[in-house]
Amino acid sequence: MSSLFPAPESIVLSPGAVLLPGAGLSDEQGIVSALEAMLAQAPARQMVTPGGLLMSVAVSNCGRLGWVSDRSGYRYQAQDPDTALPWPAMPDCLFRLAHNAAARAGFDGFEPDACLISVYTPGARLSLHQDKDEREVAGHPLVSLSLGLPATFQLGGLSRSDKSIKVPLTHGDVLVWGGPSRLRYHGVATLPDGEHHLLGRRRVNLSFRHAG
Ligand code: SIN
Ligand code: FE2
Repeated sequence: MSSLFPAPESIVLSPGAVLLPGAGLSDEQGIVSALEAMLAQAPARQMVTPGGLLMSVAVSNCGRLGWVSDRSGYRYQAQDPDTALPWPAMPDCLFRLAHNAAARAGFDGFEPDACLISVYTPGARLSLHQDKDEREVAGHPLVSLSLGLPATFQLGGLSRSDKSIKVPLTHGDVLVWGGPSRLRYHGVATLPDGEHHLLGRRRVNLSFRHAG
């Protein structure tokens, strides 16, 4: 669908939090095929929280380190706990996309070594949380690429009870948050049903971090 007004190139949501609409679309086919290859190698699976709850979102990882959760806690590790094999390597096209998006948002030199792949099917949601399992939280931003079905991202404040703003994210949108926004709470509202022409009944989020 074309629009009279082109989408803006970037929207500053708060100091350090920048939405780059459609920034992931330039190599859409390459990204989607790299994603499907990684998920074939390390399938997304529902993990258990330290409190014993099954997450509704299924996750996998690529890169040197991957985020995992089980009864003993949240952590990053180099091996997939299901297979004891290293996570799939981070494809160059994804590394570059995350590096360039961070630079556009004001964070030069971002070198992600971890990428959490979150697969949402209709009904899945992610409750408000902070990303703080990385070794040097303050020094590196987070870069998040959304693919597939549209979702409502909730961007809260630095304490859990702060009001959150709703940010609609669609296929190809990239969100960067770092600096004073790095520890903002965030989550994803229950995914509505739908069908995406490339990803079917799924939303996939790729969350790039410098973890180690
Ligand atoms: C996350 O917080 O790790 C994922 C966020 C998202 O799915 O947009
Ligand atoms: Fe997160």
